[in-house]
Amino acid sequence: MKVERIRVALDERSYDIELGAGILGGIGALCRELGLSGTAAVVSNTTVAPLYYELVRSSLEAAGYRVCLVPLPDGEEYKNSATLNLIYDGLVDASLDRGSFILALGGGVIGDMAGFAAASYLRGIPFVQLPTTLLSQVDSSVGGKTGINHPRGKNLIGAFYQPKGVLIDVATLDTLPEREYLCGLGEIIKYGAVLDGDFFSFLEENSGRLLSRDKDALIQAVSRSCAIKAKVVAEDEREGGVRAVLNYGHTLGHAVETLTGYKRYLHGEAVAIGMVQAAKISQHYGFCNQGDRDRIEALIKALGLPAELPSFPARDYQEALSHDKKVRDKGLLFICNQGIGAYRMERLTDLRALLEICGIGE
Ligand SMILES: NC(=O)c1ccc[n+]([C@@H]2O[C@H](COP(=O)([O-])OP(=O)(O)OC[C@H]3O[C@@H](n4cnc5c(N)ncnc54)[C@H](O)[C@@H]3O)[C@@H](O)[C@H]2O)c1
Ligand SMILES: [Zn+2]
Repeated sequence: MKVERIRVALDERSYDIELGAGILGGIGALCRELGLSGTAAVVSNTTVAPLYYELVRSSLEAAGYRVCLVPLPDGEEYKNSATLNLIYDGLVDASLDRGSFILALGGGVIGDMAGFAAASYLRGIPFVQLPTTLLSQVDSSVGGKTGINHPRGKNLIGAFYQPKGVLIDVATLDTLPEREYLCGLGEIIKYGAVLDGDFFSFLEENSGRLLSRDKDALIQAVSRSCAIKAKVVAEDEREGGVRAVLNYGHTLGHAVETLTGYKRYLHGEAVAIGMVQAAKISQHYGFCNQGDRDRIEALIKALGLPAELPSFPARDYQEALSHDKKVRDKGLLFICNQGIGAYRMERLTDLRALLEICGIGE
């Protein structure tokens, strides 16, 4: 079975991402290769565990590990301190010691929570990511951001904590609901639009294969995305500078999520809308031309994602935007595309003008 390896270079915290189709059963051997020992605590949820836990368990047992499952309820609404405590309870019940490790089997919610549990349990034990959504394979499993939500804000509690390794099996995407799958494609478009023009062209040429979850196209798209994110993270592990480019489409995307109460759109859908607006704004300021802007919008639509901003008064958008974490005293740090495949970070102070460019008036 063909396995690709992508290095995330972070000095002594460096690790590899292993990528392939149908490779999940290799997890036991990978953990041995990584030098992990003791008990393997698999943190998963009630949707993903029935699909993939048996395969993971038998592979780990065949490699000589004692294995336990920590099952969690499924949903972003459970990404909180109460569920985190359930993980700690499971780890204590299984008598996990410092010589043991955690495996995160699921999407970004499981990865963020299990990663934070690993960062904090016994002051830190090793963990491995087994991401099973497209979004988690190309985004959340790379880069070491872990954490939970607080009633007053998303991802307010957390830590930078790198895994020992990541195993991505694109075959697990066969069971992913369509909307969730398309959301992952949204984050993939982001990498092409602001960081890699050739990759953007690849996505345009292969949109049909990607929509049908063709394994070869997926492996190429996921591996390129991981490599791009790994490079950005290697340059800026703790988001002091260039890592902010990954917020392309997210500024207006977050405003859309806030205004619609996190109900109408999934995250990747809101980001898709945000990218279409970012392209409009980039064209308005002369950073890209009409053709570039049209290509971004066309690819988003071709991959089944929404493009139109939902209708709310400009003042509501303004309010939502000024709550964005990137608003400093000097205005909004906005990521524009420079042509396709490059970016500029701009400080935009006139939010009203910005909204007008997007067609949002009073
Ligand atoms: N740490 C980071 O850098 C980072 C980056 C981006 C997003 N995130 C976080 O990631 C989370 C979103 O992650 P997500 O989009 O993966 O959502 P998710 O984890 O909620 O998964 C989406 C749904 O798909 C189900 N699922 C997962 N894998 C499946 C499979 N193979 N087959 C069938 N169903 C499956 C899940 O149970 C869930 O119902 C958010 O909490 C966000 O804050 C973190
Ligand atoms: Zn995102």
